[in-house]
Amino acid sequence: GISVGIVGIGTYVPDKIITNHDLEQMVDTSNEWIVERTGIRERHIAEPDMATSDLAVLAARKALADAGVSAEEINLIIVATATPDMFFPSVACIVQDQLGAVNAAAFDLGAGCTGFVYAVATGSQFIKSGLYKKVLVIGAETLSKVVDWTDRNTCVLFGDGAGAVVLSEVKAGYGILSIDLGSDGSGGEFLKIPAGGTRVPTTEQTVSDRQHYLYMNGSEVFKFAIKVMGEAAVKALDAAGLDHHSVNCLIPHQANIRIIQSAAKRLKLPMEKVMVNVDKYGNTSAASIPLALEEALKSCRIQQDDIVVLVGFGAGLTWGACVIKW
Ligand code: ACO
Repeated sequence: GISVGIVGIGTYVPDKIITNHDLEQMVDTSNEWIVERTGIRERHIAEPDMATSDLAVLAARKALADAGVSAEEINLIIVATATPDMFFPSVACIVQDQLGAVNAAAFDLGAGCTGFVYAVATGSQFIKSGLYKKVLVIGAETLSKVVDWTDRNTCVLFGDGAGAVVLSEVKAGYGILSIDLGSDGSGGEFLKIPAGGTRVPTTEQTVSDRQHYLYMNGSEVFKFAIKVMGEAAVKALDAAGLDHHSVNCLIPHQANIRIIQSAAKRLKLPMEKVMVNVDKYGNTSAASIPLALEEALKSCRIQQDDIVVLVGFGAGLTWGACVIKW
């Protein structure tokens, strides 16, 4: 069969930074609480005039340049996002237009923070099947626009950003070796935006009840994450005929340092082999794995022939892992 891998990567985060000390001025919280409970120190926040597609386009241009691929060569654009510009058109179609990717199909994919892993899994199948040659996968979010900045339980956790990769055929034996995806919709209520959709359409009442903001049951999501992160990574490694000894670099979804540490422990990996940048970006949802992956590549934590594991969890609830030979 055709081997598919990542042949280019690019990211973008807005310039504006909100530190934990800034948050102390906004809600009843402290830098110590946030650092100790989450590992987050600061996060990047989009300006009011910037939407998810703007971040996505800026990351995508860098990924195309890194891959040496023109926009016209792209056959498919998949944007993983939980914070689209609007219901429709999709973010992917806005990106397609902005890039001038005139030969590309385009659609959005929703799997919460697991969206990037789901989108890499989905995009790679179109190349494996022989239908397409080059697929652009983007994880992009402006969670700052749906976070209730008066709710200390959630506003300290999230940040904005985008990460893009180009998928293409690679040398046999390299690229994506295995994928493990899962879902448990029974936990959907733990992480949601209650209003503004077709179940609870927008009314003056829903707005005054603050139902258009992200709602999260933090401790339930935490328990779920601890369980599935390790399990998904182990299953994906198993499917590739590998175990934890083979892993050179783990790229976990960056939601909370304690969740990352527990996944590392489950995989018996020392933290030197685990990419962590949650301190700088907070939880950027579908953008977090490509942001961490690019930093791992730039800082030479990933070398040729390395085994890299991407693993995430998120709203849905969903989870996913992917083993890549670099
Ligand atoms: N500052 C100070 N105190 C706070 C803050 C804050 N920012 N936020 C909450 N607290 C308080 C709570 O009110 C609570 O006080 P109480 O006991 O008087 O009610 C206390 O701190 C402890 O709260 P816990 O919920 O027990 O704290 P916990 O250790 O569980 O940490 C956290 C909370 C960080 C939210 C954790 O549960 C977590 O990380 N959960 C996972 C969240 C996550 O990853 N979400 C992303 C999912 S991905 C996606 O698809 C978007």
